[in-house]
Amino acid sequence: MMGVSMELHDAILRRRTTNGPFLPDSVRPEHQRRIIEAASRAPSHFNSQPWRFVLIDDPDRIGRIASLAGQSMTRLIEDGLFFERYKRYFRFSRAEMDERRDGIFIDHLPAPLRPFIQKVFSETGLKVMRTLGVPERLGKDNQELVAGSPLLLAVMLDREEYVPDKLSGFYSLFGMGAAMENIWLTVGDLGMGIQFVSTPMEVPSCWQEIQNLLEVPPDLALMAIYRLGYLPPETRRPTIDWTSNERKPYDRFVFRNTCRQPEPLA
Ligand SMILES: Cc1cc2nc3c(=O)[nH]c(=O)nc-3n(C[C@H](O)[C@H](O)[C@H](O)COP(=O)(O)O)c2cc1C
Repeated sequence: MMGVSMELHDAILRRRTTNGPFLPDSVRPEHQRRIIEAASRAPSHFNSQPWRFVLIDDPDRIGRIASLAGQSMTRLIEDGLFFERYKRYFRFSRAEMDERRDGIFIDHLPAPLRPFIQKVFSETGLKVMRTLGVPERLGKDNQELVAGSPLLLAVMLDREEYVPDKLSGFYSLFGMGAAMENIWLTVGDLGMGIQFVSTPMEVPSCWQEIQNLLEVPPDLALMAIYRLGYLPPETRRPTIDWTSNERKPYDRFVFRNTCRQPEPLA
């Protein structure tokens, strides 16, 4: 491939979300620097570099955040909010996934739950889930995954740029996304994994507690928390797990000249 780095291409194809546990080893300081350097090289509007990061390796703070991640997961599942918000992304069979080629496929769950999983979006399904202790199980899994991570990364935006109804607010989200993709690719290159820890931000009181724990000042907006660590050679899958490795065929998302002309890109 002339002029194209196979290493970059491979790194892009290999990039994944880590659903499972990390090794307990702390992340080497030079690797933390590589991650931050990669983020800092991302494009941003007028080179404004609106991103800010907190590297969290203090076990007490990680433990507190883990417990908030667990609690928020349990609450969101128990209330039915999680499934209500996200049902359109769930695929329940290989055939459905093969047809859609997007979303996430719950392909790993304990045998007693399997007959109920398709009914999870109904009130009856939720009742069954509650009786079987699914909200607690998922919360505990989430808590353990976060607690067992040697490094958490909080991502913030400078509120001078991140003004949601201004153009700079829109632009700063692009910059942050580019910075995070640089981190994501670098992490893979270092034998590490990364996962977005989103449940605490969906429960406002949990999110506020994390802001207090991190002492986020009023001029910064806390945007996201990730967990990071080195990947074990073999991964044990969480009790309930999914895969999301499918991608849409090109002609469903690329067009030539006008939006009426799907591009097959054979
Ligand atoms: C804005 C955003 C939020 C996400 N939130 C979560 C999350 O809360 N938990 C999680 O495990 N993955 C999360 N992901 C990762 C996606 O689920 C994942 O990228 C997608 O399913 C494709 O899988 P892959 O990253 O392994 O290729 C998030 C990704 C983005 C960009």
